[in-house]
Amino acid sequence: MPCILAIETSCDETAVSVLDFSAVNDPSKAVLAELVSSQVNLHQAYGGVVPELAAREHLLNLPLLYEQAMKLAVRDASDVRAVAVTRGPGLKGCLLVGLSFAKGLALSLGRPLLALNHLEGHIFAGHLVAPATYPMLVLLVSGGHTLLVLANGERDYEIISQTLDDAVGEAFDKSATLLGLPYPGGPALARLAERGDSQAFSFPVGMPQESNYFSFSGVKTAVLRAVENVSECGLDERTRFDLAASIQASLVRALLKKSLEACKKIRPKSFLLTGGVAANQHLRESLGAELKRLGIKLIVPPPKWCTDNATMMAVLAAHILKTDSRYDSWQPGVDLGPDTDFQIAALPRWPVA
Ligand code: KG4
Ligand code: ZN
Repeated sequence: MPCILAIETSCDETAVSVLDFSAVNDPSKAVLAELVSSQVNLHQAYGGVVPELAAREHLLNLPLLYEQAMKLAVRDASDVRAVAVTRGPGLKGCLLVGLSFAKGLALSLGRPLLALNHLEGHIFAGHLVAPATYPMLVLLVSGGHTLLVLANGERDYEIISQTLDDAVGEAFDKSATLLGLPYPGGPALARLAERGDSQAFSFPVGMPQESNYFSFSGVKTAVLRAVENVSECGLDERTRFDLAASIQASLVRALLKKSLEACKKIRPKSFLLTGGVAANQHLRESLGAELKRLGIKLIVPPPKWCTDNATMMAVLAAHILKTDSRYDSWQPGVDLGPDTDFQIAALPRWPVA
């Protein structure tokens, strides 16, 4: 039974997924295996991702994950019709490990290699939960990205807003560090926030005036000052709850502000929220409530497809194989397909539009 094998190693998760080749209309039912090996414990000691260590871990983990995923999917190498891999954006050494493995596999099997954009993969994660209706606005929020993208149609993107400095996940994590929480502190900060008063402290909302950009570095500095001030009398539990709630409120407010401004201007049919920060309950709820009032459908994949994973890359590959007219005359097993180029390099920077 033919399948697509997808590999994702752009940051600190090694991920391999196997997707049934024929089932693109309901991709969530086509997932035969999906494995993610997280390196959080390794990087925690350094307070952030160490690129060389991450690349080394991918090198060690990838062959094991590949074998395990194929076993779980009950497929062998001869069933692989196409190999999909993240080409960028991401950490250079990490991308190189995934891309080299994928090239080797595709070459040895004589199968096409689809080297794809990670950000577009995040957008295709939406296809796993609902068919996209266009125009669709996408808020992609993670530790590395803060993007508001307009999808005018399939694979037709326009950047509406991006960050001038830190990504919002980075702002969550750096603020959490200042509150004494271990890396990555975003989820822990969100848990503290549930018990705090979001009005207790006033933090800036990144770029509140009319502008196409987000900016989160000011929040980090303001949090540092606030922590220094309250630390003089000791950082008690109540104050940590209040700080967490106020930080979260300011970060979410900035995301909502730009998203809603764009919604009012563009009037999209649907809105996709994705990336690791999409796991934030306060963000999901407040965005959901605002979009409901505007009559816009909110699509939020479950956390396993919001955070980095290879299934989203497999879904994107399946879509390309099915809809790209250059593949119309493609004969799997006879030729390699139009995109296959074993000369390609990793692209650490690769805007989605
Ligand atoms: O997409 P992701 O898994 O990895 C990349 O950065 O690509 O996103 C991880 C980010 C981290 O910054 C983490 O702190 C943040 O998502 N995050 C959260 C929550 N869960 C994960 N931030 C706020 N609230 C959460 N519940
Ligand atoms: Zn990502």
